Amino acid sequence: MHVLLTAPGFEAALIEEIDRQDAGDAKLLANGVVGLEARCPPEATDFVFARHILFDAAEIRGESVSALADGALFPWVPILDADEEPWELLAFIPDEHLEAHVLERRAELVGEKIAEALKKRRKRVLRRKVESARKLAQVLLVDRDRGFASLADRLTLPGGGVWPSAFPAGRAEIADDWDAPSSAYRKLEEALAWLPVKVRPKDRVVDLGAAPGGWSQYVGRMFKGKGRVIATDILPMGHLPGVEFLQGDFSDEAVFQALLDLLGDQKPQLVMSDMAPNMMGIAEVDHARSMHLVDLAVDFAEKTLPRGGDFLVKVFQGREFLPLMQRLRTLFESVKVRKPKASRSRSVELYLLARNFRM
Ligand SMILES: C[S@@+](CC[C@H](N)C(=O)[O-])C[C@H]1O[C@@H](n2cnc3c(N)ncnc32)[C@H](O)[C@@H]1O
Repeated sequence: MHVLLTAPGFEAALIEEIDRQDAGDAKLLANGVVGLEARCPPEATDFVFARHILFDAAEIRGESVSALADGALFPWVPILDADEEPWELLAFIPDEHLEAHVLERRAELVGEKIAEALKKRRKRVLRRKVESARKLAQVLLVDRDRGFASLADRLTLPGGGVWPSAFPAGRAEIADDWDAPSSAYRKLEEALAWLPVKVRPKDRVVDLGAAPGGWSQYVGRMFKGKGRVIATDILPMGHLPGVEFLQGDFSDEAVFQALLDLLGDQKPQLVMSDMAPNMMGIAEVDHARSMHLVDLAVDFAEKTLPRGGDFLVKVFQGREFLPLMQRLRTLFESVKVRKPKASRSRSVELYLLARNFRM
């Protein structure tokens, strides 16, 4: 069985997605955790609502930390003994577990116990993200006494990332850069770390809803002066090196057009939008206003992206979400959803990364 992680609240959507793709039989295993008896290799499928996958996972049960660690180790030992390669070990829990504080510590202890046992067998155990680690060994605790263990070969993705990702449930390790102008900076850093998007020097990136400038600054730093960041916001924004800024309301056609003029015939490789209206506190109204901006951002991406271009957008969950997904799926080859760890845990914001514009 494969175990897929999703954002809590998205389990039904993930199961529906698996069903739609006729990829196998799926069932709910725990909050944010779906089990899949796959009909086709999971590498061949792109589960939009899944954030992470544990291949060929076995269920483990045990009252104690040692029993859980033994349960995970038992099937791994012969495979790892026969393999001298370094490997990475992750022990984690689903996002937003009700007893997260207790369970997180327990997962850590299970990980330590496994690492200890493997060191005795003189295996090189790497706890951090290491590109060279070919194998990914994972333990996911869904309860005090129940979890899933999986050992998988890693694939290197064309964008430079590895798959399955080293960030289960989106728990990317992100630098606390307090000099950055906004918490949005950390969210983008985390999103880009998790998603296999690489911004290359000389690329062009458009940042919609850019103030106070976290995302623009992040991309500008990656460019090291060699690319072009074109940013816009209804509010003013301070000068950032390497960032061209246009102030105006994006829902105003003249501003939309001015931005197109600024790009000229240079197509952007990435359009990103973090635009969010001032919230009124009425969920339906807030959702509709924010989705209007998202739609305009999609229109802009559709007009400007070259074939193969990417689009990153922040959206708020609500009833316009699925129609948006459908629109993006027709325009792009793949659409990934994730909730940033750096966002407040109860907030309903999500990132969608649509990759490979079809034109
Ligand atoms: C969450 S903030 C963006 C944070 C930014 N990504 C960063 O990294 O610092 C959302 C922005 O969307 C902008 N915004 C809202 N409505 C807009 C509109 N109609 N046109 C342009 N920008 C808009 C807001 O002024 C606000 O600065």
